[in-house]
Amino acid sequence: MINRRDFFKYFLLLGAGAAAAPLVKVFTPPHILPAKGSFSLWQIPLSQTPVQGNSYIFCTKTGKVVVMDGGVQREAGYLRGFLGLLGNEVEAWFISHPHLDHIGAFNEILKKPDGLTIKAVYHSELLPEFYKRVEPEHQNLTVEFYRNLKKSGISVTDVTEPGVSIEIDGTTFKILDVKDESVTVNAYNNSSMVIRVEDAVRSVVFLADAGIEQGNRLLHGPFSSELNCDFLQMAHHGQKGVSLDFYRTIRFGACLWPTPQWLWNNDAGKGYNTGPWETIIVRNLMNELGIKKHFISWQGLSRIV
Ligand SMILES: [Fe+2]
Repeated sequence: MINRRDFFKYFLLLGAGAAAAPLVKVFTPPHILPAKGSFSLWQIPLSQTPVQGNSYIFCTKTGKVVVMDGGVQREAGYLRGFLGLLGNEVEAWFISHPHLDHIGAFNEILKKPDGLTIKAVYHSELLPEFYKRVEPEHQNLTVEFYRNLKKSGISVTDVTEPGVSIEIDGTTFKILDVKDESVTVNAYNNSSMVIRVEDAVRSVVFLADAGIEQGNRLLHGPFSSELNCDFLQMAHHGQKGVSLDFYRTIRFGACLWPTPQWLWNNDAGKGYNTGPWETIIVRNLMNELGIKKHFISWQGLSRIV
């Protein structure tokens, strides 16, 4: 685990953006070097804001960088700095859905790449009929994000069917589910792109913000056996995501929580478990299931593997 002071020390040492690129190959600190024989994975901390950002970074065994979602707007600098340390080149960027806590920072980077090269983006694009009909408060950001994506010149793949696999350097990124615009309950979240990442050594499943409806779709879909994994990203930041039965049905070894401290403790300002969120219920279930390994984003930058 890198603490914030160490991270910013290296960040300042190397500088951000284009200027960092040529230095990274020489000065990359040893603890962010890729793991031997498999991919490395980091969970980005909630470093700039207490909002529930969601962002993960992979480094493949030969150093190719892949990003999963892009945090909230104010995390753009942190994300940019981290990617600068890894060489300022992203092989592929997967976007689960266009809510501000998943695309905010990425959208800022699209507007001002500052020397960061992004080779490809994969997402499941929502149609205007959908985003004009549901969650109108998110329409402006969705429209702006799609416009920035088109203007960027980056190769963009709109994944419209599950089952698509993208192979990068011996690691497979398989799309287990995509948008379903017929679902009107919790509509954006239930249109998350759900992704399984796997190589010969380990597997990770990213549920993004999947709700109960998408969880059921996954459990009864053609890829249900591929939900079993070593590391599971907890749906919707660890509460009011997929059902408790979803977690009881699949098998997994450790939890990734993209969760701020107040949400982790269900604390709306009056203390532990006094808020309206369901995080403690999910945490208790993980205890019942015997899951002992937890990576929680409010505790700092986690190197998962
Ligand atoms: Fe979210």
